[in-house]
Amino acid sequence: MTHREVADLPSDLAVLGDRTRFQLGDPSPSSSVIQMEDYRRPGLPAEAYTRSQYLDQERKTVFTRYWICVGLASDVPNPGDAYPTDIAGMPIVLVRDRLGTLRAFHNICSHRGLQLVAKPCNTRGHIRCPYHSWTYRADGSLKSTPHFGGYYKDSYDGFDRDSKGLQAIRCDQWLDMVFVNLSGDAPPLEDYLQPVRDRWADYDLGLLRRESREVTLQCDANWKLAVENFSESYHLNWVHPALNSCSRMEDHFSFEIRAPHVGQGSLRYRRGQINGKTLPTFPGLGASNKQTVAEYITVFPNLMLGVHPDYFLMFLVNPLSPSKTRERMLFYFVGDEAMTPETETLRHLPIDLWTETNDEDIEMIERMQVGRQSPRFDGGCFSPALEKPVYLFQQAIAQAVDNPS
Ligand code: FES
Ligand SMILES: [Fe+2]
Repeated sequence: MTHREVADLPSDLAVLGDRTRFQLGDPSPSSSVIQMEDYRRPGLPAEAYTRSQYLDQERKTVFTRYWICVGLASDVPNPGDAYPTDIAGMPIVLVRDRLGTLRAFHNICSHRGLQLVAKPCNTRGHIRCPYHSWTYRADGSLKSTPHFGGYYKDSYDGFDRDSKGLQAIRCDQWLDMVFVNLSGDAPPLEDYLQPVRDRWADYDLGLLRRESREVTLQCDANWKLAVENFSESYHLNWVHPALNSCSRMEDHFSFEIRAPHVGQGSLRYRRGQINGKTLPTFPGLGASNKQTVAEYITVFPNLMLGVHPDYFLMFLVNPLSPSKTRERMLFYFVGDEAMTPETETLRHLPIDLWTETNDEDIEMIERMQVGRQSPRFDGGCFSPALEKPVYLFQQAIAQAVDNPS
């Protein structure tokens, strides 16, 4: 398969406009439906980035029906560990039980809905709600409800304890990534990720080791702008001069990967080195000519992955509000030899580079957000050669939001 796989965009870009109708659950006073088809514009309209009603729709569709990465298996390494997380404001807790099984629950007490776990912790066998002391086992079942039936009585006639356990969420794992599917009816995670696994079959991802240093950041922009920015290299020349000096815009390529995921990459990745030393690489890349290739895949909707000969990158994007996004960036290196104290400074090279790159990107996406306040923003337009992944991502969002059931 060639790395130059840039296909033309569909000539009728208005197709996206046709697919961007969505019903508003909490309508503006003047209208209960926004007819996005009326806009006839190539990209998602400003409202998709600025209106809380659109984010509500995304919560019910994009973030509910698809597999969403919400954390890492290594966030709960030990039996009893619990890790609170969320997606688009919906609270979730990951729990590892006594036997090592990883579970996900809605992070709410069945009594009156308090957020159950507020900080990463070890539950020591049970999760206790601090409000009225209901306790749950690590499998989610309700263990005790002190005084719920009156003083010194923990129940009353007709109280159905079995139905009051924690609400489980369908959960599965790939590598260190923990995914949830809130609707419970998405196709198996394995199928969903098969195109990614196929694309990266030459990399022995089982060798990945997590770096303890991670990067978290917050920006004043819609979450989709962060994803879109990651999915195109058109801006590299101007926004990332340091990056561009080693991997120029023309060294980048887009590639087809089964929808709704999108991908792009670089043919000129250069490994960092200090005093002639470099980090270990995935074995066998020479045979597939991948020693200088870096590839990036946006796993729809909000997980961005990057594979390089000597490290793997994971970027979790989480909307806090229509105009606020939190991102968590994690790095994995290849094999135990990459994780010694002596190689720490080498491991920090890509982390520092990405930190700098993120800062440069954030200014751009925050200004994209400001631009979407303009009454004249018309959805923009795309370079068929360099921004097809952005177009496809927007199309996938529009399709999901337009089909609420
Ligand atoms: S809200 Fe949890 S015990 Fe009351
Ligand atoms: Fe960038």
